[in-house]
Amino acid sequence: MAKQVDVVIIGAGAAGLMCAAQAGKRGRSVLVVDHGKKPGRKILISGGGKCNFTNYDVTANNFVCQNPHFVKSALSQYSQWEFIGMVAEHGITYEERDHGQLFCLDSAKDIVAMLLKECDMPNIMQQYQVEVAEIEKTSTGFRLLLNTEWVECQSLVVATGGLSMPKLGATPFGYQIAEQFGLKRVTTCAGLVPFTLHKEDKAAFEPLSGIAIPVRAETEDGTSFSENLLFTHRGLSGPVVLQVSSYWQPGQKVTIDLLPSESLPEVLDAMRDKHPNQSLKTALSRLLPKRFVEALIERGDIKDKPLKQFNPKELAALGDYFHQWPIAPNGTEGYRTAEVTLGGVDTDELSSKTMEAKQVSGLYFVGEVMDVSGWLGGYNFQWAWSSGYVAGMNC
Ligand code: FDA
Repeated sequence: MAKQVDVVIIGAGAAGLMCAAQAGKRGRSVLVVDHGKKPGRKILISGGGKCNFTNYDVTANNFVCQNPHFVKSALSQYSQWEFIGMVAEHGITYEERDHGQLFCLDSAKDIVAMLLKECDMPNIMQQYQVEVAEIEKTSTGFRLLLNTEWVECQSLVVATGGLSMPKLGATPFGYQIAEQFGLKRVTTCAGLVPFTLHKEDKAAFEPLSGIAIPVRAETEDGTSFSENLLFTHRGLSGPVVLQVSSYWQPGQKVTIDLLPSESLPEVLDAMRDKHPNQSLKTALSRLLPKRFVEALIERGDIKDKPLKQFNPKELAALGDYFHQWPIAPNGTEGYRTAEVTLGGVDTDELSSKTMEAKQVSGLYFVGEVMDVSGWLGGYNFQWAWSSGYVAGMNC
C-alpha cells in the first residue's frame, strides 16, 4: 500500500520550507522532497553569503507580474514584519543596507538553520536526492512515485523555483507539472541579470572592467532605477543593470543618465568661466572616471578641445549625450548568472489568497515557479516567505 501523508511539497528551497513549517504547525503531516542533497541551496549563496532576506519597504510595485494585484493578498497575510519577527525570535542579527535591504550580519546559513528549526517537528519529514518520477491525480488528492516508492497525499505543493542557476539544481519541473494539469504559463526569461554588449561596445568598454558609476537608467517602458552601473569584461552589470534587465525586451535600448545629480551644461559652463583653457577631457574627468571619458573620446563619441571653444549649442549637445547615454544591449548573460526567472505559472490560474490552482483542487504553487519576480533587494525571498506561508495555511 502507498505511504500516506497530508501534504507533499516538491522543493526544499525558501518557499517550500516556509510552507512546510506552516502546514506542520497546523498539524498536517508533511513530506518535503528535493532532488538536491541539501535544503536551501540558493539561500546559502544569496546576498554574497549574507542573504538579503527581505526589505523594510515592500509593496506590490516591487514585483513584476502580469497581474500587478496578485501579490497583494499574500504580502498582507505574511508581510516583511512577520518574517523580521521570526528572524529576531531566532536570535539572528541583521543589518539594514541601502534602500531598506536587510542582510544577515553573520551568515545566510542562519536563515536555513532557522527554517529547518521551524520544520523540526515529528509530523514534517524531509527526503533529499528524490526523483519525482510520476504524479497522478486521484479522487482524494495525488499519487506520486518518489524514486521507487509510491506516496499518496491530499495536497501537493510545487515549490521548485525558477530556471536561474541550473548549477544549484534549478529545473523546469514545476512548469511541467503545471502543463500536466492544464495550467497556462507566461513565457520565461532571465531577470535580474547582467547585459552583454554588441562587439564594438564590448571591445570599447571591456578595458573598463571593474569601474562603477552611480547612474539613473531607464528602459523604453519608462521604468527607471538609480544605482551603480558596473563595467565587466562581459558587458554591463551592477544593481542598476540587474534592476532594469527585468523590464527590458530584446532589441530595446536603455537610456542612462551618467550624471543624475547635476546638469552637465551648467557645470561645464561654470568650469569654462573659471578655466577657459581646460580641456573637456580634464573637466569631465572631475565628474566621471577618467578611463571612461578617454574611452568615449577614443570611440569618437565626444570631441576633446579646450572648454572655451564650446558654444552653448555644443554644451547642450554634451548634456543630452551624458544625461541620455543610449546603450543597446546585445542580450543578457541568461539563466547561468540570473538571480531570477521572469514569467512562470500564470497567476490567473491560481487563487491569490491561497496559491491553490483554481481548476485543480489540492494543487498549490509557491515562490519563483509562478509568474512573480521581485526587484533586487530582498523582494524575491519575501515572495517565497509570503506565498509559502499562505499555501502552508491552506494546504
Ligand atoms: P528555490 O530555487 O529556492 O528552491 C527550489 C527548490 O526546488 C530547490 O531546492 C531545488 O533543488 C528544488 N527542485 C527543483 N527542481 C526539482 C525537481 N525536479 N525535483 C525535486 N526538487 C526540485 N533573492 C532575494 O530576495 N535576496 C537575495 O539576496 C537573493 N540573492 C540571490 C543570489 C543568487 C545568486 C540567486 C541565483 C538568487 C538570489 N535571490 C535572492 C533569488 C532567490 O534565491 C529566489 O527567488 C528564491 O530562492 C526562490 O525561492 P523558491 O523556494 O521559489 O525556489
